[in-house]
Amino acid sequence: MVRELGKLDFKGTWQYAAAPESTDHVQLGDRYDLFIDGDFVAPAAGKYFDTISPSTEKVLASVALSSNVDVDRAVKAARGACRVWGRMKPAERGKYIYRIARIIQERAREFAVIESMDGGKPIRESRDVDLPLVAAHFFYYAGWADKLEYAFPGKRPAPLGVAGQIIPWNFPLLMAAWKIAPALACGNTVVLKPAETTPLTALKLAEVIRDADVPPGVVNIVTGAGETGAAIVEHSDVDKIAFTGSTDVGRQIQKALAGTAKKYTLELGGKAANIIFEDAAIDQAVEGIVDGIFFNQGHVCCAGSRLLVQESVADEVLGKLKDRMETLIVGDPLDKNTDIGAINSPRQLEKIESYLALGRTEGAEMYQSSVAVPDTGYWCRPTLFTGVSQSNRVVQEEIFGPVLAVQTFRTMAEGIDKANNTPYGLSGGVWTDKGAKIFHMTQKIRAGVIWANTFNKFDPTSPFGGYKESGVGREGGLHGLDAYLSLG
Ligand code: NAI
Ligand code: MG
Repeated sequence: MVRELGKLDFKGTWQYAAAPESTDHVQLGDRYDLFIDGDFVAPAAGKYFDTISPSTEKVLASVALSSNVDVDRAVKAARGACRVWGRMKPAERGKYIYRIARIIQERAREFAVIESMDGGKPIRESRDVDLPLVAAHFFYYAGWADKLEYAFPGKRPAPLGVAGQIIPWNFPLLMAAWKIAPALACGNTVVLKPAETTPLTALKLAEVIRDADVPPGVVNIVTGAGETGAAIVEHSDVDKIAFTGSTDVGRQIQKALAGTAKKYTLELGGKAANIIFEDAAIDQAVEGIVDGIFFNQGHVCCAGSRLLVQESVADEVLGKLKDRMETLIVGDPLDKNTDIGAINSPRQLEKIESYLALGRTEGAEMYQSSVAVPDTGYWCRPTLFTGVSQSNRVVQEEIFGPVLAVQTFRTMAEGIDKANNTPYGLSGGVWTDKGAKIFHMTQKIRAGVIWANTFNKFDPTSPFGGYKESGVGREGGLHGLDAYLSLG
């Protein structure tokens, strides 16, 4: 983690200067309507809800609450636009997507600040991780638009039609890009619903789409909560559902879609093992553990939320990890020195805190950094549990916060067993200086992505998705195209 400037205090401890990001260039309206058929339109029932900043608890804007009527209107617009978009020359489609990518790059600072305000993530992450990846996704899929026949030789790739897309609050704009870019490249049109706590960057993206002159109806953005999402899932004229969120809602969606012709991809939860062998470069591994679980407050489906450390180095790793946790700054998401921002919502904080209590009830020992946290807003200090057993709920269940469960192992086989022993299979990490060990582990761990000597690295070219309860289907790379095409 790179730091901004600061100074040594009289004890020789480095004091980081507060470095708040300016919000001057950010223009937020008081109220946001729905983006349907190329225009911002009021919701039929005239209802709105507030989105707040989880770090200040202040209302940022009010946002339209879509009813079934609005969803139906959006789906009709998307269906109508299929004629234009689906039949457009692929290279032309690509040009529009490139244009979206370029405008996002131009407005990246503004987008990063709004993302941090609305969702609570540190500005350093939204600026240096989310926004570059958002643009990269649009650039990458723009490039595929006129090469689909090369991507699937011998097939006749055709768009599916209208894609209903429901996304979560942990990477709001990035998840919108993951969903919209491949759908458009393949000639589909879109009805997208952002999460209710983080709708603002998706609505700003609607402005970008309008400014890029994308034909009306190709992308429609409807805001609202679970009921709006369910209305998209249940709409009879939607051809494909793409969902990222909780395993519970994923299950409900799967049930709702059973027996229908709709295609679907589900990107659900995780409980990844980050596995440290005794021959690993320990200092780098400690940074990888920190990045794995504390990045984005641990609101990451592929977070390394279980540390599996080989017994012979467990004391050393834990000692260094605790020291490092003490240095992490929790606070203002707009401060460039902040490492851990605000927990996304009071509901999510309640969930995390219930797991902190549960871990102790289960007999685990809790260690929390002593860092100060602000008085207003929703915060959780970096936390770890030791003395856990495999069956403990803090080891098995997704907490989705800055909370790490620590276990040890002796042999490689024991490490693999423990890594695989949860209902999830989304990601994993292996730290060792032996290539052979990396190959062995990556073959034996059932997870969609396994990082070696790094963690949480993303790239639009590589597929992403899970086994078991982590989901169905893949996004990213060529696999991400497959999910939006019929290959007759
Ligand atoms: P959620 O699954 O309820 O929300 C995700 C999205 O689904 C939101 O846009 C929401 O409005 C929508 N939604 C909710 N109910 C729906 C329904 N019945 N039909 C269609 N769409 C619906 O997740 P929530 O409640 O915000 O978070 C709870 C837990 O879920 C977290 O603590 C975390 O463990 C997990 N989660 C996992 C994510 C991931 O990236 N895999 C992202 C967000 C949450
Ligand atoms: Mg918000």
